[in-house]
Amino acid sequence: MNLLLINASPRRERSLSRQLANAFLTRWLALRPHDTVVARDVGIDHPPLLTEAWIAACFTPEEDRTPAQRGVLAYSDAAIDELAQADVLVIATPRYNYGMPAALKAWFDQVIRINRTFSFDRAEKTWPLSPLLSSKTLVLLSASGEFEFHAGGLRENWEHLAPHVRTCAHYLGVAPDDMHHVTIEFQEFGDERHQASLQGAWEAARLLAGRLATAPLSPARTAFLEPASGSSH
Ligand SMILES: Cc1cc2nc3c(=O)[nH]c(=O)nc-3n(C[C@H](O)[C@H](O)[C@H](O)COP(=O)(O)O)c2cc1C
Repeated sequence: MNLLLINASPRRERSLSRQLANAFLTRWLALRPHDTVVARDVGIDHPPLLTEAWIAACFTPEEDRTPAQRGVLAYSDAAIDELAQADVLVIATPRYNYGMPAALKAWFDQVIRINRTFSFDRAEKTWPLSPLLSSKTLVLLSASGEFEFHAGGLRENWEHLAPHVRTCAHYLGVAPDDMHHVTIEFQEFGDERHQASLQGAWEAARLLAGRLATAPLSPARTAFLEPASGSSH
């Protein structure tokens, strides 16, 4: 199995989402030591923002692209190749301003690309875009300063991270049931609620790694962890 790790925090050692990803991958590799992990650190090495030249290059047939246009698409090509190789995508990210950080959004913008990750059929009047990739599992590992972004929670209506990632992930070949989310909350409080959330998230991440690593191709792959302290789906 191939795993692709996307870290989106600009923080390094202090990043909780990075630490959670480490816990997840440590457990995974203990169970499947021969799997490969490719890491792309968008939090430190920011993906380029899209430009008019990028859009024009995308819509130019591959055989007609100039060397300059190929250069403009180089980051996107490399990031999509990594994604296409991956069976499991692990995205570790902070919550910023109630959604994903700009660096992670920039990565999605680079990899959701016409004729590479989705097709576009103008004759299809309702859903013209279709994903070209399939059968991928997404593990979203997030950290938040505040809390209760889950369905029915205090900040349910302020949750723009997981739903946005879920929608974008459709175009990466991730079916809704193949997305799993473990989150740390209360970081800004640093109190006992934060400690409980940390502990719950660590446990949920290890359980999820164990579950996915031991039954990655079976129906159990899509099983949800029961919502517990520190985890949501
Ligand atoms: C610029 C900025 C914006 C943030 N916005 C939010 C927010 O909207 N909601 C929230 O719950 N926490 C917010 N936080 C807190 C972070 O989500 C929290 O510190 C988290 O632990 C960061 O992830 P990391 O530890 O992996 O770096 C924000 C933090 C920063 C620095």
